[in-house]
Amino acid sequence: MKPPLSSSSSAVLRKARLSPYVFTLLAFIVFVSILYGEDFMCSLGQLEPTPGRAMSKPVKRRGKLAFAIGKGEEGCDIFSGRWVRDELTRPLYEESECPYIQPQLTCQEHGRPDKDYQKWRWQPHGCDLPSFNATLMLETLRGKRMMFVGDSLNRGQYISMICLLHKLIPDDQKSMKTHKNGSLTIFKARDYNTSIEFYWAPFLLESNADNAIVHRISDRVVRKGSINKHGKNWKGVDILVFNTYLWWMTGLEMKVLKGSFEEENKEIIEVSTEEAYGMGMRSMLRWVRKNMDRKKTRVFFTSMSPTHAKGIDWGGEQGENCYNQTTMIEDPNYWGSDSRKSIMKVIGEVFSKSKYPITFLNITQLSNYRKDAHTSIYKKQWNPLTPEQLANPISYADCTHWCLPGLQDTWNELLFAKLFYP
Ligand SMILES: *[C@@H]1O[C@H](CO)[C@@H](O)[C@H](O)[C@H]1NC(C)=O
Ligand SMILES: *[C@@H]1O[C@H](CO)[C@@H](O)[C@H](O)[C@H]1NC(C)=O
Ligand SMILES: *[C@@H]1O[C@H](CO)[C@@H](O)[C@H](O)[C@H]1NC(C)=O
Ligand SMILES: *[C@@H]1O[C@H](CO)[C@@H](O)[C@H](O)[C@H]1NC(C)=O
Ligand SMILES: *[C@@H]1O[C@H](CO)[C@@H](O)[C@H](O)[C@H]1NC(C)=O
Repeated sequence: MKPPLSSSSSAVLRKARLSPYVFTLLAFIVFVSILYGEDFMCSLGQLEPTPGRAMSKPVKRRGKLAFAIGKGEEGCDIFSGRWVRDELTRPLYEESECPYIQPQLTCQEHGRPDKDYQKWRWQPHGCDLPSFNATLMLETLRGKRMMFVGDSLNRGQYISMICLLHKLIPDDQKSMKTHKNGSLTIFKARDYNTSIEFYWAPFLLESNADNAIVHRISDRVVRKGSINKHGKNWKGVDILVFNTYLWWMTGLEMKVLKGSFEEENKEIIEVSTEEAYGMGMRSMLRWVRKNMDRKKTRVFFTSMSPTHAKGIDWGGEQGENCYNQTTMIEDPNYWGSDSRKSIMKVIGEVFSKSKYPITFLNITQLSNYRKDAHTSIYKKQWNPLTPEQLANPISYADCTHWCLPGLQDTWNELLFAKLFYP
């Protein structure tokens, strides 16, 4: 067990009595943390060997979690760490070896000149990550269903998982099919009787962006309390991996529909993004509590995936973005302006009250450093590019999605670590 926050801070106070210098330092910390709020305290927590942060422990542990075969190292936050170059073991697979990657993510095939972005390994500060063992993962999934539910970023993580596993399965034993409306993609490994699926639900709740093929809607509306609309398709799944964030970011407010989409006189209210997002998260938790058996199943939630559309965030030129970025951001405290801390706070608050233990994949900070890992212009384009665009590649660089192999393989290594060694 970790000491609660109060005991570690009283330890600091005892030290403070020993030395006036430490006392001065402490006063300075208190002053700065009043100035900068909890973010500064979080970064201090990384320096302290025994952090007592409540936020990083949203999962309540009562008894052993399903699928666990060991325990994570005591006091080690695997999401706090740094990137190290590792040419020997990265990438975990080659782009050309994985036929399942959508042309929107095959950067090499689309002319990306560098490969450096594939050669980084995540190194937590306090411990090592277990190596991703595809045999163990696949054996564990025998006779089971795993499903990723969310938006295109979650689809990327889903494809990464399949790329990490598929080589163990002979060609005539595996298949991947997408339902004709595009909502559900199913990868099957027949001998294992396993299916790994992706379900499109960018808000988790019902919305006017649910059509998996045509969803380029600027005036987004999400329907209150409508989790079962999609949730009915998740029943019976053994391991669920949710994400939802980017689609909520349409400004400072979000449109929420109270009745149904079929009604002629729709009652639509506008509430703050945080309030709407919290409503969505609570609906998801309710669904999980009602439909998932905590003794046999696991639920993961992947935190927001950052974008790198504004170079000024990392001290670049005005107008610069992820285009032509081949190095990562070195500042350990870097946090992009589009990753709203207020949303992170909502997630923390909602999860801390959860009765079902949701495993939080806190990938935001570690992905924030990776301005080099986006697909940028090296992807299949939906529409032909205009001469104006071609003359100015920054204008059409995709700074939201990530090349595969790449960053999202690390998200799955973290998922692997938390599944087996929570
Ligand atoms: C997520 O991880 C970062 C980096 O370790 C940490 O600063 C932050 O507090 C974590 N957030 C939550 C909600 O646990
Ligand atoms: C991977 O997992 C399998 C199945 O549990 C095990 O037999 C094997 O030794 C593991 N491989 C490594 C390198 O740990
Ligand atoms: C295959 O897996 C499903 C669950 O996904 C299970 O219901 C079924 O009994 C399994 N079939 C066999 C032959 O093991
Ligand atoms: C797509 O089809 C599946 C299966 O019929 C259904 O469950 C799902 O709700 C459909 N998706 C949409 C957006 O209509
Ligand atoms: C890309 O960045 C390098 C510096 O890192 C610069 O020399 C080069 O001109 C840039 N290329 C383009 C096409 O912007």
